[in-house]
Amino acid sequence: MARRKFVVGNWKMNGLSDALGEARAIFAAADSHSSVDVAICPPFTLIGAMVATAPGKAVGGQDCHGAASGAFTGSVAAPMLADAGASLVIVGHSERREGFGESDADVRAKAEAGLSAGLSVILCVGEPLAVRESGGAIDFVLAQVAGSVPESFDPQRLAIAYEPIWAIGTGLVPTVGDVAAMHGAIRGALAERFGDAAQAMRLLYGGSVNGDNAPELLNAGDVDGALVGGASLTAAKFVPIVEAAAAL
Ligand code: PGA
Repeated sequence: MARRKFVVGNWKMNGLSDALGEARAIFAAADSHSSVDVAICPPFTLIGAMVATAPGKAVGGQDCHGAASGAFTGSVAAPMLADAGASLVIVGHSERREGFGESDADVRAKAEAGLSAGLSVILCVGEPLAVRESGGAIDFVLAQVAGSVPESFDPQRLAIAYEPIWAIGTGLVPTVGDVAAMHGAIRGALAERFGDAAQAMRLLYGGSVNGDNAPELLNAGDVDGALVGGASLTAAKFVPIVEAAAAL
């Protein structure tokens, strides 16, 4: 099954109103690469303004609560993201799992909340360095997949992002062989659990993706796109990654 390439910018806790020009430039460049789906996930505070300045483009949140509403000071619910014009949400990023103690069960609840609100979901998994070095990366990640991927969903609306923690923001990247092995293992586990639907799910790689390494990483087996942090903040750095995806 042909899966469209998907390149997603995760702006993390970066971006004030003056960054909207970069988003406009990114989406304008993406318009000439219709074979690639491009999305930007800015901080919550910019979602409404980004949707307004780039109507019809894919704008997403970086997290959501597992409940649809309630007494959760400081949290944002998936229906609120949808109401603000977002069409997707990232859940389970390692900066949430590690920094905010989110468990697989929490991540699964967030994914279910996003899907129920009509959003597409990018669910992140990835191992710490010590696990990679001990040879346990695949087992670790497959346990995260088993614990955090919901039981039933539209496979076109749930992507998984494999992001080795030690590769995020460090400039380090796994070998293409290691990326292909991990993505193949994830696809295999999804196929065992969900059958043919696994072929429709997109698997993204994330962790120090840039314009130079994107052609190789995006071409690795079972890689359907990239989740990009630092290199997604400007059009100058992000557009070459979109171009690399379009060239495949
Ligand atoms: P990075 O971040 O591209 O800056 O390594 C990726 C991510 O955390 O999604």
